[in-house]
Amino acid sequence: MTTAQPLDVQPTPLALLLLGRESDPRSERGVECPGDLPAPSDPDLVARARAAKERLGDRVFVLGHHYQRDEVIEFADVTGDSFKLARDAAARPDAEFIVFCGVHFMAESADILTGDDQRVILPDLAAGCSMADMATAEQVAECWDVLTEAGVAEATVPVSYMNSSADIKAFTGKHGGTICTSSNARRALEWAFAQGGPAGDAKVLFLPDQHLGRNTAVRDLGMSLEDCVVYNPHKPGGGLTVEELRAAKMILWRGHCSVHGRFSLESVRAVRERIPGVNVLVHPECKHEVVAAADYVGSTEHIIQTLEAAPAGSKWAIGTELNLVRRLANRFADQDKEIVFLDKTVCFCSTMNRIDLPHLVWALESLADGKVVNRIEVDPETESFAKLALERMLSLP
Ligand code: 13P
Ligand code: SF4
Repeated sequence: MTTAQPLDVQPTPLALLLLGRESDPRSERGVECPGDLPAPSDPDLVARARAAKERLGDRVFVLGHHYQRDEVIEFADVTGDSFKLARDAAARPDAEFIVFCGVHFMAESADILTGDDQRVILPDLAAGCSMADMATAEQVAECWDVLTEAGVAEATVPVSYMNSSADIKAFTGKHGGTICTSSNARRALEWAFAQGGPAGDAKVLFLPDQHLGRNTAVRDLGMSLEDCVVYNPHKPGGGLTVEELRAAKMILWRGHCSVHGRFSLESVRAVRERIPGVNVLVHPECKHEVVAAADYVGSTEHIIQTLEAAPAGSKWAIGTELNLVRRLANRFADQDKEIVFLDKTVCFCSTMNRIDLPHLVWALESLADGKVVNRIEVDPETESFAKLALERMLSLP
């Protein structure tokens, strides 16, 4: 006897690839990594990375996202959140190679924002982002058809989180929308609503992180939870009625970050009990109930600045990726700032962690030997529309 599938649930169109194996060109997880990697046990890895970087000199510029491992951050020329790194990449037109220690969508954005003669390298092509994978170009095109049939597409401005593929960014640019990051989501939404629908009935289609969209709309723009609906790409019509679509102000894509999604109300309650007087500071990719229970909310860059400004003797529980939290705990330990991870269990971003010292050494040595490896290159048509959306973000007031 077979078990019937619920009629309205479609299987995800993305194959579940093993990380670093096989390929799906539509997937953020990329393809398998060619080349012979140095052994992680090689005692000379640090010296080799240093020597390769020195050989390359100004020809290479290494960017490191805050969630990268310490062993990689050590070789970054700049570190930052995704917004800062996008700007930093665009500000280095003289660098022949941009080595992006981050994930695939960040490297794509760097390629879009840098010159045609510059090459963007992702040391491990399997460093994708599961959230970005949750919105494919086909699904988003279908969603737009649903909005068009419901008569709301004309009034809808797409706002896409940086954590999305170049295809989604191009869709956003083509339909008059903007990209945002967690540090400028509020300004992006204000901009989008100011575009206005033809009858002052503007809506935003927010892709792909429902939590960042909801948290920004409710916390920063004063909307109610009822103003937000969730579009499920696995259900016909997104699982929404025409009336629901017409009544909504925010149409949130049903995507989320599997790392930040782990923090729960229970994590907040438990840490407050364990550490009296603790300040809870979380990333806006956390669920709304977690953000509502926290004391402070902000992007990775904001989290760092808040801890820099915190007084000695203060206590902090941080709800974001563990590499960053651990680095901050070590950095501020001698200033008598107690910094702990919000959850009890380990919570690295596994794809960010794909970039390790062996991959970085391999990429730098290959470049120094004149071999361009793991280049991330967005096709010109996609690039032109995606650039429009990224440049709208960079020029937000
Ligand atoms: P930031 O925009 O804060 O850098 O976050 C990027 C990211 O991937 C968070 O999960
Ligand atoms: Fe993607 Fe989440 Fe990892 Fe950020 S932390 S790169 S959103 S999976």
